[in-house]
Amino acid sequence: MMLDDVQALARVDAHDTRRVLAEFAAQCRQGRALSVTLAKRAARPRLVVLAGMGGSAAGADLVATCGLSSVDVPILVHRGYGLPAAAGRDALVVASSYSGDTVEVISAVETALARRIPVVAITSGGALGTLAKRHGLACVALPSGLMPRMALGLLVFPALNALAAHGVAVAAEADLDEALAVVSAQAADLTPEAGSDRNEAKQLALAIGPRLPAVYGGPLTGTAAYRWKTDLEENAKLLAVAGTMPEMNHNEIEVWQGPAARTLHAVLLRDRGEEPEIARRFALVRELLTPAAGGVSEVWAHGTSRFARLLSLVHLGQWVSYYAAILRDTDPWPVPVLMSFKQRLSTSP
Ligand code: PA5
Repeated sequence: MMLDDVQALARVDAHDTRRVLAEFAAQCRQGRALSVTLAKRAARPRLVVLAGMGGSAAGADLVATCGLSSVDVPILVHRGYGLPAAAGRDALVVASSYSGDTVEVISAVETALARRIPVVAITSGGALGTLAKRHGLACVALPSGLMPRMALGLLVFPALNALAAHGVAVAAEADLDEALAVVSAQAADLTPEAGSDRNEAKQLALAIGPRLPAVYGGPLTGTAAYRWKTDLEENAKLLAVAGTMPEMNHNEIEVWQGPAARTLHAVLLRDRGEEPEIARRFALVRELLTPAAGGVSEVWAHGTSRFARLLSLVHLGQWVSYYAAILRDTDPWPVPVLMSFKQRLSTSP
């Protein structure tokens, strides 16, 4: 079995992505230790805007989803140029760009500066690092050398810290402790050394096989479903679909019939904290999809707190996308099309 042949796997994974993924818990601990130093006592914002794109927006999604049940301040994830009109001087902008060179994020910060909105920058440098220095913005300096999507632990924890420093506590310290314990415990069963007889990530990648994965979550785990989709796309270069219960019951569910459904594989991201009405929908969806689909898999979040549950699913998804890449003989690290697109964008008029 190729996935259990660590040497064969190393030949495809030329950039040692497996080491970065295996160190995810340590990376999260490192990220948690990165706090933001504020020049003066920070006012509590009436709105938080988390600006970022791609891998640097993934942590923002986790923060915003967890914040829904714990804070009375709206938290928006902003993927794009500028800022929403609702962001005024009483807002807080947290601008995340791992490289620091993402034009949309730079544009968001420039808009924040023009509107005199406080900004916290989270970056390893680039134009965002320079902008933060020039304007004396609060900045969390990240170590460089990773692919942005593989720096999630370094991006999400400083964002949580930045919000807490502004009086917006999205997750309790005990929840963060639990999340770290959960991902540490998961690691040994997900790394290449864990055989496919006991490795859930390998089993899922093999179950998906050549089919197109459709990853569905509930109100909490839908955020993880979206991250699975983007990891599958960037790491395995495999088109994936993400959807959320109950919304997918009102549209996407219609796709699961006829011969086309055989080319799809549904992955249901379950969570023991999900409401009974959501559990009922998952059961019905599973019943409906199973006879038509190429395959249906169900996976469960680990942990108790919302943050731990989400992070556990995201952690599993990272590994599923890794093994899906290996099965396609694809190095999970580089994203050549994305890089060339950025390059062309920066040089074209
Ligand atoms: O994972 C990736 O490489 C991309 O999705 C990037 O995160 C995205 O292009 C934005 O770049 P950055 O994270 O450096 O701001």
